[in-house]
Amino acid sequence: MSEDTTQVRDEASRIKFFDTTLRDGEQAPGITLNTREKLEIAHQLRRLGVDVIEAGFPITSQGDFEAVRAIAQEIEGVTIAGLARANEKDVTRAGEAVRHSKQGRIHTFIATSDIHLTHKLRMDRAQVLAAATDAVRLARSIVDDVEFSCEDSTRSDPAFVAEVVAAAIAEGATTINLPDTVGYTMPDEFHQFLTTVYELCPQLHDVTLSVHCHNDLGLAVANSLAGIQAGARQVEGCVNGIGERAGNASIEEMAMILRTRAEHLGGLWCNIETTEITRASRQVSRLTGYVIQPNKAIVGRNAFAHEAGIHQHGVLANPLTYEIMDATSVGLAQNSIVLGKHSGRHALSHALAELGYELDRDELNAAFDRFKAVADRKGRISAADIEALVSDEMRTEGPEGLRLAECAVTTGGDVPHARVVVVDADGNEHSGEGTGDGPVNALMKAIDDAVGTSGVLLEYHVSAVTGGKDALGEARVVCDIGGARHAGLGVSTDVLEASAIAYVRAVDASRKVEEGERVTAGGV
Ligand code: KIV
Ligand code: ZN
Repeated sequence: MSEDTTQVRDEASRIKFFDTTLRDGEQAPGITLNTREKLEIAHQLRRLGVDVIEAGFPITSQGDFEAVRAIAQEIEGVTIAGLARANEKDVTRAGEAVRHSKQGRIHTFIATSDIHLTHKLRMDRAQVLAAATDAVRLARSIVDDVEFSCEDSTRSDPAFVAEVVAAAIAEGATTINLPDTVGYTMPDEFHQFLTTVYELCPQLHDVTLSVHCHNDLGLAVANSLAGIQAGARQVEGCVNGIGERAGNASIEEMAMILRTRAEHLGGLWCNIETTEITRASRQVSRLTGYVIQPNKAIVGRNAFAHEAGIHQHGVLANPLTYEIMDATSVGLAQNSIVLGKHSGRHALSHALAELGYELDRDELNAAFDRFKAVADRKGRISAADIEALVSDEMRTEGPEGLRLAECAVTTGGDVPHARVVVVDADGNEHSGEGTGDGPVNALMKAIDDAVGTSGVLLEYHVSAVTGGKDALGEARVVCDIGGARHAGLGVSTDVLEASAIAYVRAVDASRKVEEGERVTAGGV
């Protein structure tokens, strides 16, 4: 059977999507997103139709706080959540960050398993119960929408979970989340666990039950599915399934299961605009540097490809032979936009609108200049090129940041040599030179020479935005600058220039972000 989207939709069967790409996802090793990048992703999550965006963990750093606040201020029509441990400081800080949203949510949590109580929290059950109660009460005095999570719930005593959940509901929690923090549970076990908590705490029927499953055994989506079959009406996950360790449940897989197998799921449905999935997936992959495995369900580049002749023959005769989903339903092969060097501002603006970008006049002018410069060098500009350019343009630091004005590298002799000019916020030009054991190394040294930094390259990725010899190159760097990790991304037809832009942006980020102490709770 192919997908069925004709089911009757009643509110009680609606599954809300809680996206934590910007919080749990961003906790994955090596991911460092700045506020601008987080905003870009948040805009796309809104287009994707998620119900809640968990924008960050505000107490962990000034940068995280500001990103959550900026998202709460700018993104409308979706709930914006900030994470907080169950203590006064965390909850107050999360409240300050989300208070500018019309739909702000504080998400507070504490572990309930004896393993966590003994070895991490060093608290007894009575203390945990009291902390949960106080945190929810305080959160409810700040916002109307409070989610409470029992961290490591699946390894906890269900009777204790039920007791803590009952207390949280009594204090006004509106959503109760029971996470499989360490990805340990099995689908039937999880179903039974949730059924037991429902029995021990019937008040749970009065609020939204949420599930948050990690993928350590590759069961995150299966467990989330078991969760909604047991009565959960909110599912938590990340785009591309990124997140701590093996990641979280993949948002796109959950959405396409609901769309494709609605009849099997008794008509459960969601508000996800599935045609935005591909764009969200590519954007998150590009900004996080997390490459998508080719055979990843829904968003892998082979997910809709048919290699074997017998399959190709069947699909040509009738797509139902081997395709359970239509590629256009996830936003693939939807647009065939191709612009060229003769395309004008109007054509670009039309293409951008079709891609979902709303640019004001200045932004359009800047995007057009960029487009022209690239079109002159590259000829044909595809939808993917336009997206990369616009998102890159939105990332340019503007008058307030450092900008690469010139760069030249010579690699013909013994030692690569680079020269750069970097312009600062006041318009002053800084020239620098450097040599290195490779052209990228020489460029980084030249930039360090120009602006007086000394960065160490920790990660470096270059990829082609589209296929073809004239593809735009996208470079991503993660560097240690002054003891903190900073990431930068650059796009150009010249990969060395893209690399230099990326490094200048990382240096710029290092100057702007005042990193506070980064706090991560175990398993979160
Ligand atoms: O995995 C987990 O338990 C979490 C909680 C904070 C919800 O991320
Ligand atoms: Zn988690």
